[in-house]
Amino acid sequence: MFLSLVLLISVLIHQRDAFSVSSDTEAMKYLSNFGYLDPALGDTSTSFVSGETVRRAISDFQSFAGLNPTGELDEETSIWMSKPRCGVPDIIHEGHSTRRKRNANKKVSRWKKKNLTYRILKYTTKLKNSDVDREIARAFQMWEEVTEFKFTPKMTEKKADINIRFESRIHGDDLPPFDGPGRILGHAIFPESGEAHFDEEEAWTINETNGTDLFQVAAHEFGHILGLDHSEVKPAVMKPIYDGYERDFKLHADDIQRIQRQRHLVLPDYGNWYLIKILTAIGFFY
Ligand SMILES: *[C@@H]1O[C@H](CO)[C@@H](O)[C@H](O)[C@H]1NC(C)=O
Ligand SMILES: *[C@@H]1O[C@H](CO)[C@@H](O)[C@H](O)[C@H]1NC(C)=O
Ligand SMILES: *[C@@H]1O[C@H](CO)[C@@H](O)[C@H](O)[C@H]1NC(C)=O
Ligand SMILES: [Zn+2]
Ligand SMILES: [Zn+2]
Repeated sequence: MFLSLVLLISVLIHQRDAFSVSSDTEAMKYLSNFGYLDPALGDTSTSFVSGETVRRAISDFQSFAGLNPTGELDEETSIWMSKPRCGVPDIIHEGHSTRRKRNANKKVSRWKKKNLTYRILKYTTKLKNSDVDREIARAFQMWEEVTEFKFTPKMTEKKADINIRFESRIHGDDLPPFDGPGRILGHAIFPESGEAHFDEEEAWTINETNGTDLFQVAAHEFGHILGLDHSEVKPAVMKPIYDGYERDFKLHADDIQRIQRQRHLVLPDYGNWYLIKILTAIGFFY
């Protein structure tokens, strides 16, 4: 009797641990897709992942999402994991594996030229092409206003720097595939690849409170095109979660600061103008 009770308890403890590790494959997939767990772990049997590793990954996700980092997959955490979002990982690993190293290189990469051309290779059936053209141009313009970049649409067959496509499900790249309506809305590749893809199966809209606003998602993906990764700042354009239509959607100070810092292009405000002049004179930039 006593022995079987001990056995039962140990089975229960084991199952509790196993529950958060292996039976919640969706959460595991999420953590692995978005950089909280080593992506290699998501492909294989989850039993190799220790409970501690998973708890740390959940807690990292909770911190990024601005939740209490308990490490437990509670209801609030699950709700955050089911929100529509960008498909680019939140954490870009810098480690020893080739996969991590490749990502790390992408993180510091940036465009050598400032005049970039773009082309929409595949339109959506949900909106008129001319409306897509206008919203895409508006999204580029937002970044143009705070950087030295200049974006020009390319109409000819010649290859553009930035290729924009609406795609469904698996479509021939290394990023997690699109997943039907909801969840992943789009993704883009860091410089100097210039690929921005939008999930064709979303209900794309323009200035409507329903559906998914193309301008907002495009502005976010173009941040990746320029080399920015995700921000933990809630109101930032580079936050990974799509929080619905925002009437007054614009770049946040965090986005502007990050793109300008990344370009070594700090705008001279009165506080640091002399410092920048001095640093430029001694050749600190470039
Ligand atoms: C970039 O575009 C601007 C404006 O269209 C133009 O004045 C400038 O000469 C271009 N620079 C290069 C390097 O092509
Ligand atoms: C959004 O609402 C508008 C009317 O306000 C409607 O015309 C449109 O079809 C809706 N779009 C979607 C994707 O539900
Ligand atoms: C959508 O809203 C923006 C900002 O208010 C405006 O500039 C744009 O013309 C609107 N587009 C449409 C199609 O209503
Ligand atoms: Zn993103
Ligand atoms: Zn893609």
